[in-house]
Order: sequence, then structure tokens, then C-alpha cells
Amino acid sequence: IVSQVSNLTKKLSQVYKRKINVHTNENVLIGKINKESFNQLITIFLDNAYKYSQSEIDLFLISKNKYIEIKIKDYGPGIPEEDIDKIFTRFYRIDKARSRQSGGSGLGLSIAKELASKNQIDIQVNSKLGIGSEFILKVRKV
Ligand SMILES: Nc1ncnc2c1ncn2[C@@H]1O[C@H](COP(=O)(O)OP(=O)(O)OP(=O)(O)O)[C@@H](O)[C@H]1O
Ligand SMILES: [Mg+2]
Repeated sequence: IVSQVSNLTKKLSQVYKRKINVHTNENVLIGKINKESFNQLITIFLDNAYKYSQSEIDLFLISKNKYIEIKIKDYGPGIPEEDIDKIFTRFYRIDKARSRQSGGSGLGLSIAKELASKNQIDIQVNSKLGIGSEFILKVRKV
């Protein structure tokens, strides 16, 4: 997972022209994942972090007892608490006027939810208005 995530973030960071910092103490982390689904999943969260924020994006890879935690953290506008459960619904977008400008169809996170459940990955969201958002993926270890 470490080299896979590093390769993916390197590519996306060039496309976005935005710095994506990968933080980890591990050299090797092996998770129960399908490579393509996993890359698609990470891309959905990085794409949102890129679209909804202006500054650098931080990605953390942390080894826990039974799973690997992948945390994608941005310093954007944050998500209102009452919207956090809704953003995983198809076509749901916060602040229609503003989000229309930033493009997108509101499908990313609903696809992420589906991919995650197929791959037994849990998703957790922490967000504070005006401070930023973090999406945490919990992947089972092999
Ligand atoms: N990192 C984030 N910071 C702030 N708001 C977010 C973030 N990620 C998602 N959102 C909000 O959740 C909504 C749903 O996200 P989702 O990825 O499903 O759709 P989208 O980004 O609007 O479009 P698409 O992913 O299909 O291009 C977004 O429109 C945005 O309002
Ligand atoms: Mg999106």
C-alpha cells in the first residue's frame, strides 16, 4: 500500500499542480485490497480535497493493530455537521451555487461508499467548518 499510494499521489499531484504530502513511518503495509478499486477510492477523496481546498493536501498511512488507516486531510471550508451523512448520497452537493462552479456531479462519494463496502473498507469523516476535512479509510490487514 505504501508504494502504491506514493505512486498515485505523485501522479495526481503533477496533474493538479498541488502538493500532496505523504506521511508514514512504514515501508511496507499489506492490506486486503483490490489495486484498481483502491486507487479509484483514494483518487475520489484526493480529487475532492483538491477541488474544495486551496492549500497542500496531507495523506497519512498509519498501521494499527488489525487494519491500516489511510487519512486524507485538507484545509478547505469543511463540511457542516448536518451534511456529513448526506454527502455519500448520489448527486448530493453542499452549497449548490458554489459547487456548480467547481464542477462535479455529486457522484464521487457515492461511488466511494460502494467501492469501500465491496472491499470491506470502513470510511470515517471528521470535518470542522473553516478548518478542513479528513476522510479516514480503514483497510483490513492481510
Ligand atoms: N473535502 C471536502 N471538503 C468540503 N466539501 C466536500 C469535500 N468532499 C466532498 N465535499 C462535499 O460533498 C459533496 C459530494 O461530494 P462528491 O465527491 O460525491 O461529489 P462532487 O465532488 O460534487 O462531484 P464528483 O465527485 O462527481 O465530481 C461535494 O459537492 C461537496 O459539497
Ligand atoms: Mg467529488
